Amino acid sequence: MSTEDHIKKLRVLREDAVAPVNQRAVDRQHDLGKLCARERIDLLLDKGSFQELDMFVKHHALGFGIEDNRPFGDAVVTGYGKVDGRNVFVYAEDFTTYGGSLGAAVADKICKVMDLAMDNGAPIIGIKDSGGARIQEGVASLHGYGRIFERNVRASGVIPQISIVMGPCAGGAVYSPAITDFVFQVEETAHLFITGPEVIKTVTGEEVTMEELGGARAHATRSGVTHFVVPDDRSAMEEVRYLLSFLPQNNMEVAPFFTPLDRPDRMDEMLTTIIPDSPNQPYDMVDVVQSIVDDGDFYQVHEHFAPNLIVGFARLDGYTIGVVGNQPAALAGTLDIDASSKGARFVRFCDAFNIPLVTLVDVPGFLPGVGQEHAGIIRHGAKLLYAFSEATVPRVTVITRKAYGGAFLVMNARAVRADIAFAWPTAEIAVMGAKGAVNIIHRKELREADDAEAEGQRLVDDYEDRFNNPYVAAERGYIDDVIEARETRPRLIRALDMLRNKREATPPRKHGNIPL
Ligand code: HXC
Repeated sequence: MSTEDHIKKLRVLREDAVAPVNQRAVDRQHDLGKLCARERIDLLLDKGSFQELDMFVKHHALGFGIEDNRPFGDAVVTGYGKVDGRNVFVYAEDFTTYGGSLGAAVADKICKVMDLAMDNGAPIIGIKDSGGARIQEGVASLHGYGRIFERNVRASGVIPQISIVMGPCAGGAVYSPAITDFVFQVEETAHLFITGPEVIKTVTGEEVTMEELGGARAHATRSGVTHFVVPDDRSAMEEVRYLLSFLPQNNMEVAPFFTPLDRPDRMDEMLTTIIPDSPNQPYDMVDVVQSIVDDGDFYQVHEHFAPNLIVGFARLDGYTIGVVGNQPAALAGTLDIDASSKGARFVRFCDAFNIPLVTLVDVPGFLPGVGQEHAGIIRHGAKLLYAFSEATVPRVTVITRKAYGGAFLVMNARAVRADIAFAWPTAEIAVMGAKGAVNIIHRKELREADDAEAEGQRLVDDYEDRFNNPYVAAERGYIDDVIEARETRPRLIRALDMLRNKREATPPRKHGNIPL
């Protein structure tokens, strides 16, 4: 064969490899409002940057009638490309081939691209749209999943791992997204579950639709599996690109710097009046964050899950920060089980990827209740305490209002090695609120007082004067400075600038034993 013929053959093969195997399946995919694997990758990556790998791979499974149907590339498209000029590795399950199901060849392709991502220190993005383990390949499929899960675990804390769920993701297959750092889920077309509605009905008698069980809303609000809900495939890709802009390529790098429009010394008078006069009145901590960070850009993670704690990414003077804040507008900002887990996972992500943490504290305590106690608020609350305590990235805390009891410590107090702790003049830092404290330490006087109510009020006022302010803590150095609310942005920027080269040594150990 002449060289020209070789080239012609290659071109024909390449065209063949990227052509739809099953036009009917492609049409069905589009009718459902879903894109196909290559269309999704094209939207995700910088234009023309995608370099496909393994497009000529075919499965080698024998038996069950699939040996005669060996499409190029099998049921996944893999490769690498750029997002905003930075390398990323990607795989997209192709539902139009064998329902995107995973056999040995598909697993080999995914493992190869995951290995490349890890070896070259760049994020891996998995696009999920699959019927799960390829039934015809049996245990070889299960083995393939196992190899992927193990890589997810090995890559954890080394490179950012992002899952975009855009179709079915069922059975044990869910454990790959579950291990990755961030899960995006498309409304209506994407579903995750261990056992589907039919099995549940047979076993427990419960009737539930696919959407109620494993749809985006369910996982974003109830289970916490999903971090970001997106309306369709196209917006999913825009959001993933936005998320990546806050992240470093790997655990040895820092996040990219973006020159802000905002001045570092900008103050905001709005913050001076944001704390209501009544201590039980809520305000929105998101407003506080937006007022402080560059250009008001705050990208919330897990926005719909445990809204009593807000977490997310923003920038201060161009540098990415991770924000953790109590939200007085939900459950009065108390910490419950879900909030503790949400916060702990986010703090650990930031710590693994060199993202400084800014904590905004207004916490009356842990959420009281038999349900919380029996479901393990002790065990779960400990996660957040553990996560902050072990974090070696720069950590700065601002107490805006309440910081009571154990929750004060859990929210990144100086005692657990926050680097800098500020308090607004409105801060109340104490073992507990004035009323509760007075009822305990003055029980006898109150019982014997002629006018118990007046005496109670006098004692509460006295307690508030003496203990419920930031100055008692500042006197002992537990708070580094009491600052005016309006100067929070410049003070945080200066603190983080001072901490830029922070190096903290930790004792040698294999790993700690976070209470799970
Ligand atoms: C082989 C599969 C497949 C699978 C779907 N297909 N799932 N082929 N193995 N697991 C094929 C179908 O035969 C069909 O082929 C095509 O993909 C499209 O599937 P449809 O059923 O027509 O699509 P739809 O109606 O949209 O339903 C999608 C679905 C359903 C809900 C995902 O296909 C389904 O329930 N599949 C089985 C899911 C499952 O139980 N998987 C195993 C889970 S356990 P044709 O040729 O007709 O187009 C698991 C364990 C993982 O995954 C283990 C990890 C430890």
